[in-house]
Amino acid sequence: MTRIYYFSGTGNTYWSAKKLAQRIGDAVIVSISREIKQPEIRVEADAVVFMFPAYAYGVPVMVRRFLEKAEIRAGYLAALVSYGSSPGGALAEVSRVLGRKKLVLNYGGRIPAVENYIPIFGAQKAELRNRRLALQAEATEQAAAAIVSRTSNRVLTFRPFAGFVSALFHIGCPRMGRLFRVTAACNACGLCARICPAGAISMTGQGPVFQNGCEQCQACLNFCPRKAISFGRLKPDTERYHHPEVAAEELFEVGHK
Ligand SMILES: Cc1cc2nc3c(=O)[nH]c(=O)nc-3n(C[C@H](O)[C@H](O)[C@H](O)COP(=O)(O)O)c2cc1C
Ligand code: SF4
Ligand code: SF4
Repeated sequence: MTRIYYFSGTGNTYWSAKKLAQRIGDAVIVSISREIKQPEIRVEADAVVFMFPAYAYGVPVMVRRFLEKAEIRAGYLAALVSYGSSPGGALAEVSRVLGRKKLVLNYGGRIPAVENYIPIFGAQKAELRNRRLALQAEATEQAAAAIVSRTSNRVLTFRPFAGFVSALFHIGCPRMGRLFRVTAACNACGLCARICPAGAISMTGQGPVFQNGCEQCQACLNFCPRKAISFGRLKPDTERYHHPEVAAEELFEVGHK
């Protein structure tokens, strides 16, 4: 049995986790944002795969907390990072956290995907987006084949610059939710609060209120059906992005909350 633990904001990682499970066969996928709420986390299987997006050359805050908190027992450990341009030291960070627990990361894989940080990088053009979606599908297949055959590779753990950028992100991230703005287009439908993997949005009759604990996953901003959430210089009419084969409802079901 393989257990696949994933964290995903806009569905890229979730899509790959689903495909990986189908390809491996005897596998289950588990939402890290749901599992982390357990008082104790036991991760036990023949093979365990951690899947997450790269954030600021490292791993999301919740993923690091999860890896630190979990008691892990597995014959084979793999980590797959989904990324928009460069995953930096994300795999190195996982390897270091596991190393402190005297565990070895057997396999680290990179899965290119569509960049979802649109307030910073803007929306990707359709042609590039389609190319990245095709690359994602191909890399997911390759990762599945590697995991099925229990491939091992070496993940470099010494990535000082990436480690520094990621550490800064981890300090600032939990308070960054307050930088979101909600425009008059909001009709208080509540979707953003339901999709938030961090439970960092509460609803009032007027709309969402952002609280501490944001992971910067961009799910609220990208899934809002009225493009009513903005951040920095993001224009109201900028095209939003989520994986085209992942609907918000599916993410609610599998356990964002
Ligand atoms: C806060 C934030 C930071 C990011 N940092 C990086 C990064 O350092 N390198 C990179 O290649 N992509 C970065 N990305 C892009 C995502 O890793 C990428 O789009 C990923 O596929 C999103 O996965 P998801 O849809 O499962 O959330 C970042 C995205 C966000 C929201
Ligand atoms: S998803 Fe958009 S429209 Fe719905 S409550 Fe949130 S901000 Fe408002
Ligand atoms: S507030 Fe928005 S960006 Fe922050 S964790 Fe929740 S859904 Fe993600």
